[in-house]
Amino acid sequence: MGYRVVVAGATGNVGREMLNILAERQFPVDEVAALASRKSLGTEVSFGDKTLKTQDLDTFDFTGWDMALFAVGSDATKTYAPKAAAAGCVVIDNSSLYRYEPDIPLIVPEVNPDAIDAYSNRNIIANPNCSTAQMVVALKPLHDRARIKRVVVSTYQSVSGAGKEGIDELWDQTKGMYVPGQEVAPSKFQKQIAFNVIPHIDVFMEDGTTKEEWKMVAETKKIVDPSIKVTATCVRVPVFVGHSEAINIEFEDFLDEDEARDILREAPGIMVVDKRESGGYVTPVECVGEYATYISRIRQDSTIENGLNLWCVSDNLRKGAALNAVQIAELLGNRVLKKG
Ligand SMILES: NC(=O)c1ccc[n+]([C@@H]2O[C@H](COP(=O)([O-])OP(=O)(O)OC[C@H]3O[C@@H](n4cnc5c(N)ncnc54)[C@H](OP(=O)(O)O)[C@@H]3O)[C@@H](O)[C@H]2O)c1
Repeated sequence: MGYRVVVAGATGNVGREMLNILAERQFPVDEVAALASRKSLGTEVSFGDKTLKTQDLDTFDFTGWDMALFAVGSDATKTYAPKAAAAGCVVIDNSSLYRYEPDIPLIVPEVNPDAIDAYSNRNIIANPNCSTAQMVVALKPLHDRARIKRVVVSTYQSVSGAGKEGIDELWDQTKGMYVPGQEVAPSKFQKQIAFNVIPHIDVFMEDGTTKEEWKMVAETKKIVDPSIKVTATCVRVPVFVGHSEAINIEFEDFLDEDEARDILREAPGIMVVDKRESGGYVTPVECVGEYATYISRIRQDSTIENGLNLWCVSDNLRKGAALNAVQIAELLGNRVLKKG
């Protein structure tokens, strides 16, 4: 007997990847329901070699469903996740709505799988922000060895992190640059994204940081260790899929770059590609459709006592969202629900 699984937001970037990954990983399902807004009623989405017709989230009855993977944004999550949870269906949510609530577990399975035990507080589990997910996979094994004091991270985040509209805007604006009269003004993004970079993701906070930067700080503390200090600069770049991060780490203890490379090679969810030659590192286009978080450019930072620099790249729709959610579903299945 397998699980009855709901994917809410099945017509979106993350929801479609959730369906792909459930099929690829042969998650033990008896039935899958694909949900979206009423305007998408009947839209066909792929689940392995099957086609599912999208149903309306607003009228869906969650009774008798085991888990619901949500990728519908915070507003719709606020309305529908509590309904699913109250019906006994465990919600694994991709929005930021519940991430910072103390009684809701925020999980990256390679890092803090034991947090799953708290799922029953509210029948809701939160999935982290895409930039945090890939970073903490890299930080955790290094923290276990040499205790991280402080992280300075700069991100290079793809437009798919802003949903379907983000992808369309980069595509249309890029084409429009070459066709007189078809220029596309910024709408989803604050400034032109084609052939440009924008140091602004999500809203501004009172202290001048952005909410995206704040999320990386708060989520790293909740998932890895509250003692780790993080300072971030989050930047949108004209890449369709794949987030990159330049990460500087200061440790309590000395950690040699060769030992760090060996630790990361052995760590779950990580692939090290680190040749000190032209092309001996990973770029975002190479990680699209992959499960791993790729680490390159591992090197000592000689400007501080115990420092390392590295380059971290992953598919934001996969490890940053859909893959992590499916891994949480697997964890919930293996440790708690035990069907399949
Ligand atoms: N993209 C990433 O890298 C990433 C990473 C981590 C977390 N997330 C989070 O995942 C969520 C989805 O992101 P996305 O990139 O997949 O967005 P998206 O491509 O814009 O898709 C949004 C999905 O949500 C559905 N939806 C929106 N409002 C709804 C409502 N009121 N009722 C029912 N369905 C509704 C849409 O259905 P229709 O097609 O019918 O409108 C669509 O299926 C967001 O919370 C986002 O913050 C995204």
